[in-house]
Amino acid sequence: MSTESLANAEPERVTSTPPILEARGISKSFGTVRALAGVDIDLFEGEIIGLVGDNGAGKSTLIKILSGALLPDAGEIRIDGRPIRLNSPLDAHANGIETVYQDLAVVPQMDIAENLYLGREVRLPGVAGKIGRIIHRRAMRRQAAEHFESLHIKVKSMRQRVDTLSGGQRQGVAVARSVVFGRRIVIMDEPTAALGVQETQQVVELIGRINARGMAIILISHNMPQVLHLSHRIVVLRAGRRAGVLKTAETDVEQVVRVITGAEIIH
Ligand SMILES: Nc1ncnc2c1ncn2[C@@H]1O[C@H](COP(=O)(O)OP(=O)(O)OP(=O)(O)O)[C@@H](O)[C@H]1O
Ligand SMILES: [Mg+2]
Repeated sequence: MSTESLANAEPERVTSTPPILEARGISKSFGTVRALAGVDIDLFEGEIIGLVGDNGAGKSTLIKILSGALLPDAGEIRIDGRPIRLNSPLDAHANGIETVYQDLAVVPQMDIAENLYLGREVRLPGVAGKIGRIIHRRAMRRQAAEHFESLHIKVKSMRQRVDTLSGGQRQGVAVARSVVFGRRIVIMDEPTAALGVQETQQVVELIGRINARGMAIILISHNMPQVLHLSHRIVVLRAGRRAGVLKTAETDVEQVVRVITGAEIIH
């Protein structure tokens, strides 16, 4: 991938098309802590949104709600303009949403192919697969290897156990899962926070690559240069409220930081 920023490559937008994902008035409290107070967010087809804000601003709470892991106290979520209820991560999957957390839901003792197809194993053809539920390991490994190759994720073998992978390669497994299952929206909560420089670069390239295939992405990151490099728009949360939405091509790190800290108020 070129190192040129994606910010100038605004995805083409047909104005009559509703956002692929739309949330309105999302509120959530934990006891007396108001984590979110009436937050709106839109994600358009093919777009990367950077979701930023100080510690405790409500970013993770918002994406847990968008991925079905938490129920909001109030608010509405729409997919392609249709109101939906996300009662569980399975509902989110069924609506094409995949979430990649920093501490990934991978099973360390299992190999790459097994993790990739976890819960959606490929069965042997015929009776052995249908009735015996026997897993077609060879097919899973072959398909997994093809996906890894097309996404330029480098690993030694699909039989490699996930606990022997680097952090960047583990992120690769989780991202590949969203591609394998044809998700349209990937939400990533600080995918590079625990990674070294080189691995971060690999994950950044992977994000660009899946976006080039049409995947819309919400990226939470504290790394401002990374957010400016990857996103088309930046949504800033501050103390549970939306403090502003910035077009990446028209802003810079300094302004984003001013909005995060409340030194600049935009609407
Ligand atoms: N399960 C919970 N129980 C109680 N309070 C919670 C819970 N989850 C989040 N909070 C509180 O809600 C607020 C928002 O937290 P959240 O994790 O969404 O912030 P964040 O923007 O992701 O922060 P960070 O950048 O540190 O990850 C914080 O005050 C946090 O302490
Ligand atoms: Mg968080």
